[in-house]
Amino acid sequence: MNNKFHIHTFGCQMNVHDSEKIAGILSESGYGQTDSFRDADVIVLNTCSIRQKAEQKFYSELGRLKTIKKNNPDLKIAVAGCIAQQQGDAIFKKFPYVDFIFGPDNIDSLQTWIKGTTMQTSLKYNPGYHTKTLPVKRIGRVRAWVSIIYGCDNFCAYCVVPYTRGRERSRPCKDIYDEVVSLTEQGFKEITLLGQNVNSYGKNLPEKIDFSDLLRMIHEIKGLQRIRFVTSHPRDISEKLINTMRDLPKICNHIHLPIQSGSDKILASMNRGYSYRDYKNKIDMLKAAIPDIAVTTDIITGFPGETDEDFRLTVNALSEIEYDGIFAFKYSERPDTKALTLPDHIDETTKSERLSHILKLQEVITFKKNMKMEGQELEILVEGVSETDNENLTGRTLTNKIVNFSGDPNDVGNILMIKVKEARQHSLYGEKV
Ligand code: SAH
Ligand code: SF4
Ligand code: F3S
Repeated sequence: MNNKFHIHTFGCQMNVHDSEKIAGILSESGYGQTDSFRDADVIVLNTCSIRQKAEQKFYSELGRLKTIKKNNPDLKIAVAGCIAQQQGDAIFKKFPYVDFIFGPDNIDSLQTWIKGTTMQTSLKYNPGYHTKTLPVKRIGRVRAWVSIIYGCDNFCAYCVVPYTRGRERSRPCKDIYDEVVSLTEQGFKEITLLGQNVNSYGKNLPEKIDFSDLLRMIHEIKGLQRIRFVTSHPRDISEKLINTMRDLPKICNHIHLPIQSGSDKILASMNRGYSYRDYKNKIDMLKAAIPDIAVTTDIITGFPGETDEDFRLTVNALSEIEYDGIFAFKYSERPDTKALTLPDHIDETTKSERLSHILKLQEVITFKKNMKMEGQELEILVEGVSETDNENLTGRTLTNKIVNFSGDPNDVGNILMIKVKEARQHSLYGEKV
């Protein structure tokens, strides 16, 4: 059989990993993967609805598929991911050439659909989903993602995820353990445990286990060299977790800890469940336990009600904490969310001005931090050829900084010592020691 599939993924790492599961199912059904829309018999768009921009990108892509389908009426188009879950049948009204719509908790239904069973949507509550192990066709061969918890119960006022990915459910630890064992047997060196809020792992499970216990279990696995995880909710970072991170050498010295805002008033109306003080205390505890830990964050500018003074508090937080890197976004109105009903929405110009202020400030901080690393000798895991400069190999430090260096392709998958020669804005350049 030479049927082919093409997947376009929008959104977060969770979606990228879901696409690996989609590719796994389609490969198991005898399909080969292609980079081109035109060669494909099945196209899957795995969508994201976190901000309007992500949504618009998907709709314009789907619009473009109309002519491709006209020229190739046998082509099957499936829409997956967070917009699929949120919009459901409504997508057919505007885009009748779509064949199948399935949500993030119904990826297993692709196994049935691809065999030719007539099905238009698969969006319903799927209670056993988190206990299923689906085939996965992975993108890399050095680092791998492993889902540990699905959904989110936090209902931050701006966020669609609780509506698109449903209630929080942890995967049984045995399934996670077995997956990591099999990955190390295949030669993977680093795993990233994935969930919207990994720190609340275990709450729904019959066995008594929390995220720190899970980390300890996985840490024992022979051949595994590095462990990362995303995302942590600041409210749920415990002293136990900090001590676990300090004590287990395979856990990388990096934490992504989204702050969103430095103003207590805004944090409260976002429903984040912590104050700036609480947050800063956690950072101080982390830095005391793991002195060289890198911290990254997410920021939203222009959340409803954000005054100049609230914004100044966010700027202060950035200057005080000095993150290693940030992801910053303008607040974007999302369907169904609580923030829509809040008073004092901020105009686009102010949101943009605040965003660019933050990004400029952070550029200076990031570069200063990168400069400090010049001359240091650091351990990196070599991932492959650099995307930005094909001459060089690329790897990451334990603190998640990208290092490019001239090396032998046989080094891919190895852990090496590198001396940093030159700091750049978004990466470091080094030489093998
Ligand atoms: N579960 C993770 C992140 C989820 S989405 C967490 O809780 O941290 C990733 C980031 O997108 C969020 O941290 C937030 O900064 C941003 N985001 C989410 N909804 C948004 C919206 N409506 N407008 C702008 N940014 C948003
Ligand atoms: Fe969204 Fe908040 Fe859940 Fe993160 S914790 S996914 S921001 S609701
Ligand atoms: Fe991820 Fe976007 Fe959904 S960020 S969880 S794919 S809305």
